[in-house]
Amino acid sequence: MCGIVGVIEKENATEKVLQGLEKLQYRGYDSAGICFKSEEKLNVIKSLGTIDFLREKVPKNKSNVAIGHTRWATHGKVCETNAHPILSENKNWAVVHNGIIENYKYICDDLQEKGVHFSTQTDTETISALLGQNNFLNPIKNIAFLMQQIKGSYAFCAVKNDDKQQIFAAKNKSPLYVFCSPYISMLASDPICFPKGEYFKMEDGEICKLQIGKVEFFDCKCQQIKKQPNLEQQFDAAEDIGQFDHYMLKEIYQTSPALRRLAINFLNLDLSALKKLSFDKVKLVGCGSAYHSCMIGCEYFKKVLKVDSEALQASEFRYGSTLLTKKTLCIFVSQSGETADTIAAAEFASKKTKNIVVLTNVLHSTLAKLGKIILPISAGVEMAVASTKAYSCQVAALYLLVMTLKSEKMFYKAVSDVFLLSKKLDKFYINMAEFAQEISFAQSVFFIGKGLDYVTAMEGALKLKEISYINCNAYPAGELKHGILTLIEKDVPLIVVATQPKIYEKTMNSALEAKSRGAKLFLISASPPKAFELEDFEMCLSLPKCPPLLRPILAILPLQKLSYLVSIQRGNNPDMPRNLAKSVTVE
Ligand code: F6R
Repeated sequence: MCGIVGVIEKENATEKVLQGLEKLQYRGYDSAGICFKSEEKLNVIKSLGTIDFLREKVPKNKSNVAIGHTRWATHGKVCETNAHPILSENKNWAVVHNGIIENYKYICDDLQEKGVHFSTQTDTETISALLGQNNFLNPIKNIAFLMQQIKGSYAFCAVKNDDKQQIFAAKNKSPLYVFCSPYISMLASDPICFPKGEYFKMEDGEICKLQIGKVEFFDCKCQQIKKQPNLEQQFDAAEDIGQFDHYMLKEIYQTSPALRRLAINFLNLDLSALKKLSFDKVKLVGCGSAYHSCMIGCEYFKKVLKVDSEALQASEFRYGSTLLTKKTLCIFVSQSGETADTIAAAEFASKKTKNIVVLTNVLHSTLAKLGKIILPISAGVEMAVASTKAYSCQVAALYLLVMTLKSEKMFYKAVSDVFLLSKKLDKFYINMAEFAQEISFAQSVFFIGKGLDYVTAMEGALKLKEISYINCNAYPAGELKHGILTLIEKDVPLIVVATQPKIYEKTMNSALEAKSRGAKLFLISASPPKAFELEDFEMCLSLPKCPPLLRPILAILPLQKLSYLVSIQRGNNPDMPRNLAKSVTVE
């Protein structure tokens, strides 16, 4: 989703903004732009495509104040005009914005009646237009009044065409962070853009006035607020791609150390509040891969604790007839902690129950703030759009959570299980090149499994479709004959996940039914292939031994690698799939 950077610096703010935008590329974007101040003039430069194209257009001359943006189009087509920064008609203000202004049509109509001319199709232009219209001398008053007029989710930075070296910002629901030092002051959607040191997280309804070496915060009544920088920039090796060609590959390899870190963090956590929870049923909620980890967590609750539990997609949670009582435990899972649907679902659940647990990779995120109990997934920074190590850490964290609720003995056993699993992963080298070759030019790929294996099939299908753009679908093995077999044609690849001995035969029966109709079979199982499997399957892959409930973490690894290789063979960029964003901050 859109990314914002604002910089005030003695040397070269434009270059620092460009560097910041490069770090925000992981969020996904289709165009980018920058506004720098020179001699009281606001200079706006925009470009379609990557930051490299923008960089080519930006003059080398230096400016002390600049704001920049990566746009992921929501309102208005992808074109330079709609890219940010967006100027007010009188060119007094330039604005970059992340989020959605829900009442933009109403504001547009109203301002157009007053003679204001709009030059873009964006909702963002209502912000610059209102700033241009509101005639308070004090810019903070101007912004406070604007905040009374707009509705929706937003984080924005704005600069004025005066001789002052300052940037203004405000936020509601979308994230925004502030860094201030005597040499450089910055605003950004992700602190990943900041140098080492302490920084501030802006809260909803706050306004910020940033200068070099000085930052002031105000509430919506323009009263100054005292705030301390409460977060610290941690350098993470994930920022650096190292010897890898893509972040996705690097992150797949980081799964093992991340699992070790997760186990250590759980050992050091105070889990007393978790153990005291009293509940009679469980709802696990997330989106995409996080929803799949919820499906696995749901099986853990049922198998280990014998509790009635259900996994739900966050986007459906509020709108379906979800029954919640005071005794319902709601667990929200999110890598970023900024997924709008998951946040909205947690807000909805908070009105019915206090039993809210948040499992996230970003402990200062908006979602984390809604949790009564916050648990880390400890994956480290994940840059590639497709989730890999974070998914595996979510599954492992849910395993640790359920075992904590079971008993102290089981908790310690679970920690040791996760450690052992990470060791297994270190040695689990799988060459998927041949497998990828077979799949790369397929029109569609099918995945089947039962129980936990069905979830792995779903996650495998999501990963492959996300970065290869091949139509991939996952089904419970037993469902094939209830309609899906009609789609099976000669040579269509069918990936069979069958890692549970008890239901292995059943999955095999479904796979062979598909083979008789022409499907090419590929197998992921828990034990070395038997002679007949070698005959029926194009390729068989067996997983190392591990506790059965943790097998989904091993089973997804080859499918992640497969997706990566297929994506490359098809000439795609696996780190930045088309039309997708890493952090989905709008509903
Ligand atoms: C898939 C993927 C997405 C995310 C989903 C939720 O590879 O990355 O499906 O899992 O958008 O994101 P978070 O976990 O940040 O809430």
